[in-house]
Formats: sequence, C-alpha cells, structure tokens
Amino acid sequence: MKLTFSPASPFARKVRIAAIELGLIDKIELVPETVAPGQANEKYSKITPLKKLPVLITNEGDVILDSYVIVEYLDEIGGGALVPGYGRKRWQVKTDHSLLDGMLDSMVLCRYEKITRPQGLQWQAWSDDHWNRAWTGMARFEGRDDVLNGPFDIVQIGLACVLGYADFRFADCGWRKAYPKLDKFNQKMLERPSVKISVPPPA
Ligand code: BEZ
Repeated sequence: MKLTFSPASPFARKVRIAAIELGLIDKIELVPETVAPGQANEKYSKITPLKKLPVLITNEGDVILDSYVIVEYLDEIGGGALVPGYGRKRWQVKTDHSLLDGMLDSMVLCRYEKITRPQGLQWQAWSDDHWNRAWTGMARFEGRDDVLNGPFDIVQIGLACVLGYADFRFADCGWRKAYPKLDKFNQKMLERPSVKISVPPPA
C-alpha cells in the first residue's frame, strides 16, 4: 500500500500513528507529496481532486480517503480496536473524532490565512472565529475524563495530533497553561513510540 504523506500534516500523522499501532506500517510505503495552498498539482489532482493529504492506495489500486476513512480501513484489516464496531460507543467515538478533525481544519485555515495572504488582506475576525473553534474544542476535551483516561483509540490519536499541531504551528498559544489535563494527557501519549516518532520536525 502507498500513503501520500507530509510530516507537517496532522491528518497524515494520525494515519501513521494508527498504522504503527496496528502493526501495518511495514506494509505501507510513505510517498512524500506537497500540497501548497493556491498552487496547482495536476498529478495529485488526478489521484484526488481535493488535493488533500493523505490518501491510501491499496494493493488493488483503490484510492481511499479521507484520513478517518483510511484509519477505519486499516483498523478493519489490522483487526484493531481503534474504532468500535457497533453500538452507542461507535457513534460517540466517530462524533468525537469529527470534532477533532474540524478543529484541525480550523487550525490549518488559520495557518494558511497567516502565511499565504498578504498582511493587509488578512481577515482577522474570520481567523479569530476559526481559532476559537479549535480553542473551545480543546476546552471540551479538557472536561472529558472518559477520553483522557479511556482506551487508546482514534479519539486519543486525533487529540494527540491536534495538540501536536498546536505546538508545531501555534507554539505560543498557551494551550498547556489553559488546559492542564490535556498537557498531562499529551505527556502520556508521547510515551508511545508511534506518537513520539511522528512529532512534526521543527519548522
Ligand atoms: C502545514 O504545513 O501546516 C500543513 C501541511 C499539510 C497539511 C496541513 C498542514
């Protein structure tokens, strides 16, 4: 299998962590891909018109996206327990994960607004709104002892990726001070080799 990848992408990191934890990483070739906002990439557009990272190309040549669907696929073939298979817990986990993915989307939008748009044209209220979505999302998880002390699953992986991306692109945002339980959770997650090895390299 092939996984399009960038070490900076929190979505690709999530899949990489899942693949390591499921014992599948040796079956996956990481294929570096660059997706810069505002820039064409015709070759990658043919694989996915959305031009988002990551996509998984299976041994049969099927293209699977997005990152969550890839994790579900890997969980199925890896016989794992990252996503519960049925019942109320399944929908809770999928909903929590959707919230985390939306938080990441908002953080990436803030990042792109800051680095790609000329300063006089930046829309501060829009950025603030998106940052606030991520920030209040963190507040929501600060109060979720069931997640913070719960089983290792796709929600814990997603939360580690949100916090890692905050460190990577918003190093001064102060999430550790504001959210001490998330800080403790993050330290515990970083003890896992899969989480540690996938921390984005310094910019
Ligand atoms: C980043 O450089 O922040 C980034 C790269 C790929 C996907 C999302 C974010």
